[in-house]
Amino acid sequence: MNVPLLAIAEGERADRDAFRRDVLAGLAGSPRAIPAKYLYDARGSALFDAICEQPEYYPTRTEAAILRRHADEIARLAGPGCALVEYGSGSSVKTRLLLGAMPDLHAYVPIDISRQHLDATARRLREDYPGLRVDPVTGDYMALDALPPTIDDARRIGFFPGSTIGNLMPEEAVLFLRRARRLLRTDGALILGVDLKKDPRRLHDAYNDRAGITAQFTLNLLRRMNRELEANFDLSAFAHDAFYNEAAGRIEIYFRSLRNQTVTVADRRFTFVEGERVHTEYSYKYDDAGIAELARKGGFSIAASWTDHARLFAVFFLR
Ligand code: TRP
Repeated sequence: MNVPLLAIAEGERADRDAFRRDVLAGLAGSPRAIPAKYLYDARGSALFDAICEQPEYYPTRTEAAILRRHADEIARLAGPGCALVEYGSGSSVKTRLLLGAMPDLHAYVPIDISRQHLDATARRLREDYPGLRVDPVTGDYMALDALPPTIDDARRIGFFPGSTIGNLMPEEAVLFLRRARRLLRTDGALILGVDLKKDPRRLHDAYNDRAGITAQFTLNLLRRMNRELEANFDLSAFAHDAFYNEAAGRIEIYFRSLRNQTVTVADRRFTFVEGERVHTEYSYKYDDAGIAELARKGGFSIAASWTDHARLFAVFFLR
């Protein structure tokens, strides 16, 4: 709450330094890549919310329908008095679908990298669910190894929606699950949202919406580099490029140079040839067998799962 202004300024400078370091390394590397987390500045987060409302982007609404429909059963599996621990909580919109069915929750522990987001969300949740203990944790959930002492004896139920697990490389997904298993303890469980393998056309369209919001989201990264790293990307000379790689079972997302050009970023010059791509994100798609394998390697097993009629998306309850 009362974070000294100097600490905020220092935090911002550290973030900026990390951004510069990662971008320069990513553009110097081969193949070129920039970590996906930098897509989510304030404008990027707003664009991502808009992506979730596009008609082609089925995952958000399909997952929400599954959670709404099966909230009572999920709550029953979680059991009374548990602590709900959300990985990357954002605005906690999907959490609300579960909270209604879990009136006797011991605590809700949202984990998010953005402190402002967390504080605002926690405030709203406490208003809307009087009596709910909300214990936010600021940080990177991939690195976290302790939870607030207030939830100490409660059974810990993790919640990782949005098929964000698909944005990890499969080896990283296994590491994530192993860490989650440790954090949630042996009597804990994990509610996991997963986008399923399906008709490649459908997958392609979800990342190439007609309104061009996903394209704006990708190109916002260039805008952010222009603003924060004194770069001079010409946004009309690059394009969003996303496609399904069926052999690898993943959507691949890049920005692509539309011509030969040189761009300056933080005083360094980078040459791009026409058609050259810079990678930003993968989105792996799984089937039941793929999730069973991840779960096994991560120290979990599938206790239950729910899907929609078209089998577009699935929610798993892992123990
Ligand atoms: N978890 C989301 C997904 O993989 C993230 C996402 C959706 C995304 N659309 C995107 C990431 C476009 C980068 C670009 O579906």
